[in-house]
Amino acid sequence: MAKDLAFTCSVCGAATSKWSGKCEACGAWNTIHEDTGLSVAGPKKTSIGGRRGKTLALTDLATQEAAPPRTLAGVDELDRVLGGGLVKASALLVGGDPGIGKSTLLLQAAARFGRNGLKVIYVSGEESNAQVQMRARRLGLDKSPVMLASDTNLRDILTTLEQEKPDLTIIDSIQTMWADHVDSAPGSVSQVRTCAHELTTFAKTHDMSVIMVGHVTKEGAIAGPRVVEHMVDTVLYFEGERGHQFRILRSVKNRFGPADEIGVFEMTGKGLAEVRNPSALFLSERGEPAAGSVVFAGIEGTRPVLCEIQALVAPSPHSQPRRSVVGWDIGRLAMIMAVLESRCGVPFTGLDVYLNVAGGLRISEPAADLAVAAALVSAREDAALPKEAVIFGEISLSGALRPVIQTENRLKEAQKLGFTSAIMPRAPKGTGANGLDLREMQDLAGFVEQVFGARQG
Ligand code: TYD
Ligand code: MG
Repeated sequence: MAKDLAFTCSVCGAATSKWSGKCEACGAWNTIHEDTGLSVAGPKKTSIGGRRGKTLALTDLATQEAAPPRTLAGVDELDRVLGGGLVKASALLVGGDPGIGKSTLLLQAAARFGRNGLKVIYVSGEESNAQVQMRARRLGLDKSPVMLASDTNLRDILTTLEQEKPDLTIIDSIQTMWADHVDSAPGSVSQVRTCAHELTTFAKTHDMSVIMVGHVTKEGAIAGPRVVEHMVDTVLYFEGERGHQFRILRSVKNRFGPADEIGVFEMTGKGLAEVRNPSALFLSERGEPAAGSVVFAGIEGTRPVLCEIQALVAPSPHSQPRRSVVGWDIGRLAMIMAVLESRCGVPFTGLDVYLNVAGGLRISEPAADLAVAAALVSAREDAALPKEAVIFGEISLSGALRPVIQTENRLKEAQKLGFTSAIMPRAPKGTGANGLDLREMQDLAGFVEQVFGARQG
């Protein structure tokens, strides 16, 4: 039987079975408290009792209600991620590493929505008014109709919002907000949870949209409990490598639109500029065909995006060779290498392997499997792939290649960017080739032999 987790840390929310002076999970001292209620005593014997409440008004699924009104920012990359503009009375969470550009993005968005007729209030808990105003001047937005406040007290903020009745409030960031009836420091789980709950409820009952900024911990989760993600309608992540100028806004949850949609921006001296053709941008740094470099035809949300996957394979001086990945899942890399080794006779023992998705893009699609395998083999064999070919396909553990979704969209994008052939799994019947030479493969071993065969051995 599982042990009762009867103690909780009031800072990180970790549950343990015994009391201790220091929380094992977050290292805070004197924060472990015994839970009262069901988790200690197990389910109570008594049921809810005989007293009945009021009857709910039930309805059928055919609603006559119109879709919620939306406001466009006028920036395609942002509107698409929102699922077609900002929905009235919705709550959003925008997560991202410190310094990635969240405040910049939201100040620009605030100015856009302000100019498009919304009454916007921007509350910064991290920067003074002067700092935000300086940024606004730098972005050329200092004449925009956005009201500004610098405060962290939730009670004062809600009082102000009640009086001003804005259409949109931006809270930068939720970790700095502080509710005076909760007995813990700003940024702790209970504060973040309470503030997010109060703001979301306020938004729903006052017909206001709220966008909250959330910092991301080292582990990649939004600091504070996951419940904040459940509370809001939309969760967006702002990603990118700090050294690159590209930034990607990704919707990981959206009650009002497709999830996994991305918007691509470029950080310039005058703020974030939208990138309308990300494929061209991600491929712009490509030179002559090089070993270990492959173009993957991917899909991000509803949009095809071509990008370059690079691999480097070199003899390892260490007893335990390195496997290093940027922009992809390291577990998935291990799987691809295992399949290459056991199904295709391409071992990586004693070799360091580095894999990189160029441009700071992060890929999670299994369709990238074949492109990764191709990059690995190409790097290992020191044999470049044809420059004009794109690659995609999912690899199963048996080494078979599985067809992937939206094959036709991938091909269309490849054709648009001047590619002439595609290496891929068997296409579903009726897929148009879009003028590309399709090289359909059945399994990974066949692929390695056909593409690299001449050089094997
Ligand atoms: P910021 O929006 O403050 O990040 P966050 O709120 O996510 O912590 O932006 C941080 C970086 O962006 C900062 O290092 C400077 C850079 N930046 C530009 O390159 N151009 C600009 O126009 C602005 C406003 C910022
Ligand atoms: Mg900021």
